[in-house]
Amino acid sequence: MRKTVMPVAGLGTRFLPATKAQPKEMLTVVDRPLIQYAVEEAVAAGSDEVILVSAPSKGAILEHFRADSGLEATLAASGKDSLLELVRGVGRIANVHAVMQGKPLGVGHAILQAREAVGGDVFGVAFPDDLILAEVPVLEQLRRVQEQHGGIVVAVEHVPAEQVDRYGVIDGEHLADGVYRVSRLVEKPPVDQAPSTLAIVGRYVFAPAIFESIERTGAGAGGEIQITDAIQAALATMPCHAVAFEGDRYDCGSRLGFVQATIAVALRDPDLAAPLAEFLAASQ
Ligand code: UTP
Repeated sequence: MRKTVMPVAGLGTRFLPATKAQPKEMLTVVDRPLIQYAVEEAVAAGSDEVILVSAPSKGAILEHFRADSGLEATLAASGKDSLLELVRGVGRIANVHAVMQGKPLGVGHAILQAREAVGGDVFGVAFPDDLILAEVPVLEQLRRVQEQHGGIVVAVEHVPAEQVDRYGVIDGEHLADGVYRVSRLVEKPPVDQAPSTLAIVGRYVFAPAIFESIERTGAGAGGEIQITDAIQAALATMPCHAVAFEGDRYDCGSRLGFVQATIAVALRDPDLAAPLAEFLAASQ
């Protein structure tokens, strides 16, 4: 899994007005933008190339990973060596480049735009607005299952029954250790018709044949081309497994999830943990 695709061309409407002039994926959790957490996760799972599926208004995302010679020269001239290393380091994390999605027609459509850049190998997909803190990176947990079973692997977690209509939901048989063999997937099912409470979150590993399935997939829930529908169609020709991953996910496309992510990351930071814990205790 040398390549990971990251769709970043969405409108981020749930987080307006923060996302009016700034990409959602550039919102900062403690000291790094969301996109950097996702790129670091992909690298930790063995990818050395990240393909952003972007839009003209989202140029700041790619910019973040490009060398900035002016800034580097200023930092070097003022002897700020540790900051210089920090800035240079961002550019060295991975080979990050972008393809464009003309219109935000849905996540399935976004992934299809990366077809040529991906080529013929197994690839990962990560949505940067799902920030997942895990000892073993979630993409790596998925990659191991894909290596064993082939086909498609999706990350799932149990969500409250009344929230299933916000997610793609799976039906399947539990094999072992949180791995399910998926028999059916439904995007945003009505609460009383959901096959389970196992919701798909923003991490996938795909065999490249998924592109043919996306190509044949028409608009689904919300009028968008949904990756869940493309996976459902692909079940005829390849297996799909779901992994109830080990780790904590924060939906940073929502206000509550974003605040929770900020606190969770800060509580893991050696400089911030103690004073923040004190502040939180005093705030109750
Ligand atoms: P979301 O549905 O969470 O993002 O898509 P959104 O559409 O930007 O958010 P809201 O609902 O309007 O607030 C998950 C990921 O897929 C990307 C988004 O940028 C996000 O990273 N995406 C979504 C695309 O790249 N293209 C699309 O057509 C839709």
